[in-house]
Amino acid sequence: MTEEIKPDIANAGAGTKALWAGEEQSLLAGATQVPIVQSVAFGYADLDEWQAVALGQKPGHIYSRNTNPTVAALEEKVRSLEGSAAATSFASGMAAVSNTLYSLLAPGDRIVTVKDTYGGTNQLFREFLPKIHIDVCLCDTADGAQIEAEIRRGCRLLYLETPTNPTLKVVDIARLASVAKSAGAIVVTDNTFATPINQRPLELGSDLVLHSASKFLGGHADALGGIVCGPKDLIHTIYHYREITGAALDPFAAYLLIRGLKTLEIRIERQNRSALQIAGYLEKHKSVAQVYYPGLASHPQHEIAKKQMPGGYGGVMSFALRGGYDAVKSFLPRLRFAHRAANLGSVETIVGPPATTSHVEVSARDRAAMGIPEALVRYSTGIENVNDLIADLEQALN
Ligand SMILES: Cc1ncc(COP(=O)(O)O)c(C=O)c1O
Repeated sequence: MTEEIKPDIANAGAGTKALWAGEEQSLLAGATQVPIVQSVAFGYADLDEWQAVALGQKPGHIYSRNTNPTVAALEEKVRSLEGSAAATSFASGMAAVSNTLYSLLAPGDRIVTVKDTYGGTNQLFREFLPKIHIDVCLCDTADGAQIEAEIRRGCRLLYLETPTNPTLKVVDIARLASVAKSAGAIVVTDNTFATPINQRPLELGSDLVLHSASKFLGGHADALGGIVCGPKDLIHTIYHYREITGAALDPFAAYLLIRGLKTLEIRIERQNRSALQIAGYLEKHKSVAQVYYPGLASHPQHEIAKKQMPGGYGGVMSFALRGGYDAVKSFLPRLRFAHRAANLGSVETIVGPPATTSHVEVSARDRAAMGIPEALVRYSTGIENVNDLIADLEQALN
């Protein structure tokens, strides 16, 4: 190992001082929080060491499109929460979804999935994957027998999301994963709505679990990110695709997501409790036609949810108002403790109708065909005092 030679800053010119002063010593010694390592590349005085890191023979970082210490800390936290061998992160949830699919699929492959996935994911299935000759079979989300039959016809990948957006349907991960295993398919589950606090897809037989970290994982609606967790070989394939295509997570966003993740369990516990209470309240309200929440005994897949969501049923619900879209238009502006925005999973309550959020690009007729009423409101419960939220709903509904 060659000894590093320190620059003589005291005798250098102003331009050199501005560039090098203070940089040669670590400012991080003793820091109790993960620093934001906002550096594109990592330098090495010793070329042998540089090469060993570059070849993956020694731990370290070379270039932040590949790996970065702040980003690696986030990946380690989520990997540990999901209980996987490896994890890799992305600039957004959609980058996680698309990089996972594009890295694992090839022209001629067939994939089986459900109709109710998140709008962006659905668009990949309907518009982009068919362009590279991938055959996408979109099944009725609530029809387990149809999904099983389609998996048995043969597929390379089974893609699940549960609970779904915006009607909170629940798919039986264990049942479908076991059928997929015998068909030799890779199982991918989007766990964004549930989080690892409520649902652990890898323990139910899914090979990969992915998240829009922009939602509950970060929990503060201030940073985009995505992550996928799973076995080393699959994660390496996905990571390799992402390092080349470049949808890397920014270190500053990783820092915000790390900060948010620290309170994940207490946020989710509170959101689970409040959402269940609010769903029960709404179910009895005369202005509400129907409530969609897997925690309610009236939910069609409540028994599956009870089994596969031991932590709780999550913070998101939907409800249909009596009086159609006009009722939604007059109800939403009356809420005081809610952002009206196309988002979910934050500490503040967020509301929006599918017509302006998850299904904005779908026509009213197609929304109806998908079983999404025009009078639907998606409600992402925040961590406000639940009595304030119920009082707010009460005054807005009446
Ligand atoms: C279930 C689900 N998956 C994926 C995504 C995409 O995530 P992002 O917005 O971070 O790209 C979303 C976004 O709302 C989502 O709700």
